[in-house]
Amino acid sequence: MTNVVVVGCQWGDEGKGKLVDYLSGKADVIVRFQGGNNAGHTIVIDEKVFKLSLLPSGIIREGKLSIIGNGVVLDPWALREEIETLTKLGVNVTEYNLLIAENVPLILSFHKDLDLLREARAGSTKIGTTGRGIGPAYEDKVGRRAIRLSDLENPKALRARLERSLEHHNILRKGYGKSVIEEGEILNQLEEISTFVSKFSTPVWRVLNNKNKEGANILFEGAQGSLLDVDFGTYPFVTSSNTMAASSSLGSGFAAQKIDFVLGVVKAYTTRVGEGPFPTELKNDKVGFHLETVGHEKGTVTGRNRRCGWFDASLVKQSCILNGVNGIAITKLDVLDSLKELKICVGYEINGELHGYLPSSIHSFEEIKPVYEFYEGWDDTTEGISSFEKLPSNAITYLRRIEELVGCPISSISTSPEREDLVHLRDPFEESIK
Ligand code: GDP
Ligand code: IMO
Ligand code: MG
Repeated sequence: MTNVVVVGCQWGDEGKGKLVDYLSGKADVIVRFQGGNNAGHTIVIDEKVFKLSLLPSGIIREGKLSIIGNGVVLDPWALREEIETLTKLGVNVTEYNLLIAENVPLILSFHKDLDLLREARAGSTKIGTTGRGIGPAYEDKVGRRAIRLSDLENPKALRARLERSLEHHNILRKGYGKSVIEEGEILNQLEEISTFVSKFSTPVWRVLNNKNKEGANILFEGAQGSLLDVDFGTYPFVTSSNTMAASSSLGSGFAAQKIDFVLGVVKAYTTRVGEGPFPTELKNDKVGFHLETVGHEKGTVTGRNRRCGWFDASLVKQSCILNGVNGIAITKLDVLDSLKELKICVGYEINGELHGYLPSSIHSFEEIKPVYEFYEGWDDTTEGISSFEKLPSNAITYLRRIEELVGCPISSISTSPEREDLVHLRDPFEESIK
């Protein structure tokens, strides 16, 4: 019985999906605990591509139980679409392999409207959200006016909640010059989806507790990345949930002290989608272009180009500390093949002062100068390599230095999008650290 949490330690898209898919081979239960369909997790198995937004990546494997916890914000229509797409790819999703927390808050059409309206009006201060209504849905949760999954089974409570929620949203909509929403419109939408989504509804915290007692291995799948965390990320250019490993507990109802291993996933370089600071970004730069094209750095959810830059060891070290990471998985090493020289950021010069971390008070990111170490690249390809000894010696030097700088041992190294192309050094399920 081992419980493992997988989190991204950069700005998302680190390759969490690939790692979760691989690890789910050893897990009995796979749990999403925060975020929503702003996430895009890609899994490639024998060239067949699966893109998951809401469903835990374990859904691909037969005989596993997938769970969507209460910390997620759930768009039931997006869920239905995702399930339909997976069905066409031969993956069966039913109430026997998917459960959803009865207390999960729902994303409704007016959340998406508000997300898009705000972004459109924000001009140069826009966040660059995915437009999926994530922020407004979380606002309603803490504002105590969210519609939760279990409300669908109680029409009287649903009306009362909706009334409270619409009172708030219609005031905002009027301010934005948009038409007000009638209660009946939303009730009709909910009625149409209710039977489909309610069949998955259950007190997930009880299921997890029972599974734990039975000796199950539970795998928690983080979405986004630590630098998008609403408290510790590059605020306000963040998402609206806590993306750290600690959320796995509150976002599912599974006691935190039962977590055995936190795996932090990082790319061998850095990417970011949307607005916000990115000290090591390679803008209009040959290497930046190499990373973007060779790494196919296009957002899974919105199709936007991902901004690319050098590996930032200061930020990853910060993330490892905040998450309590026990081991890191480094992905996309193959994308660095054939680069003559590599740089690793080890700190910043801000207004003439050296910093080993990114202070949260920084407002003008123009004034941050990364401090770099330089490494020789390698000519040989690392693509598809699955044994550490076969990696080029310069790649080993680069990886070992990252390990040293971030203060965390490497658990695995990924060398292609394919499921099996992984170098294994330490197995989170065998090596629970307690
Ligand atoms: P996630 O959001 O953290 O799950 O990551 P995404 O799926 O959004 O983005 C990672 C992308 O990199 C996906 O297209 C993966 O198929 C791909 N990928 C993962 N690991 C590797 C790797 O080692 N090498 C290469 N070339 N691609 C990889
Ligand atoms: P995965 O799980 C990368 C970014 C958006 C935007 C900011 C806020 O695939 O790693 P939101 O719609 O959440 O309010 O947008 O967060 N963002 C992601 N970036 N990967 C993700 O998920 C992301 N989810 C949100 O681009 O900058
Ligand atoms: Mg992604």
